[in-house]
Amino acid sequence: MQTVLITGCSSGFGLETARYFLDRDWAVVATMRQPREDVLPPSDRLRVLALDVTDPSSIERAVAEAGPIDVLVNNAGIGWLNALEGTPMAAARELFETNTLGLIAMTQAVLPQMRERRAGVIVNVSSSVTLQSLPLLSVYTASKAAVNAFTESLALELAQFDVLARLVLPGRGPDTSFGDNARARMTDGFPDAYADLVQRVFAGWQEAGPVTHSSDVAEAVWRAATDPSCPMRLPAGADAVAAAEAR
Ligand SMILES: NC(=O)c1ccc[n+]([C@@H]2O[C@H](COP(=O)([O-])OP(=O)(O)OC[C@H]3O[C@@H](n4cnc5c(N)ncnc54)[C@H](OP(=O)(O)O)[C@@H]3O)[C@@H](O)[C@H]2O)c1
Repeated sequence: MQTVLITGCSSGFGLETARYFLDRDWAVVATMRQPREDVLPPSDRLRVLALDVTDPSSIERAVAEAGPIDVLVNNAGIGWLNALEGTPMAAARELFETNTLGLIAMTQAVLPQMRERRAGVIVNVSSSVTLQSLPLLSVYTASKAAVNAFTESLALELAQFDVLARLVLPGRGPDTSFGDNARARMTDGFPDAYADLVQRVFAGWQEAGPVTHSSDVAEAVWRAATDPSCPMRLPAGADAVAAAEAR
């Protein structure tokens, strides 16, 4: 039986991806900052472990407890929407600590066992904002563009060990907790000089258009994990696919 370890399974894309792999008879190590068994269906193939990707000792504990892992899904991430002028450096550092450095640290922790077994797949969840730039997302986009560059270079050095690295690029997923979690961190509001732009951005979101559902992301992660012919960058969701085609 194959084992997948997924980060950030308390909600959204990570939770749905954990369900998707469970439904397909995989052993699933669902990791969360605050572990909760009740968000997933009971299964003897499910283990829920505590993991904060910004905490090296938490990473060490979780990877040791998990044992052999065939697929690592680096999904944990946080959002931030503001003009650069409304983005304190502390917020920028927090974004990079979680979205970029946390993902790198998790990859580093899992890689030795994959290299030794000469098998394994690392799936990194990035974002379609790296395909089509949007305003008020400069720092978030930078944290995900770094993930793209990291993954594409890493894939080249791991090919000799038959270990794969892939990117999944979801579009906007309004059904996850991402927006609420980001808003909880954004307590200082937007700088006055950007008020018109902020209004235009929010108005744009009210217009009907394609979005990304958690199931789109789970399917894309599954394909990235199980289909060796999958492209390096896999857009997930109708809006992400459109952004990739427009490039
Ligand atoms: N929703 C979107 O519009 C969208 C679009 C493109 C890409 N993405 C990316 O998709 C991924 C999943 O996002 P989502 O939409 O599913 O959002 P979500 O519902 O907020 O889920 C994010 C998950 O990451 C976890 N997390 C945050 N900081 C963490 C840390 N330090 N250590 C471990 N886990 C941590 C959260 O756990 P807690 O419950 O403990 O906070 C949560 O389980 C993220 O990488 C995000 O950047 C989202």
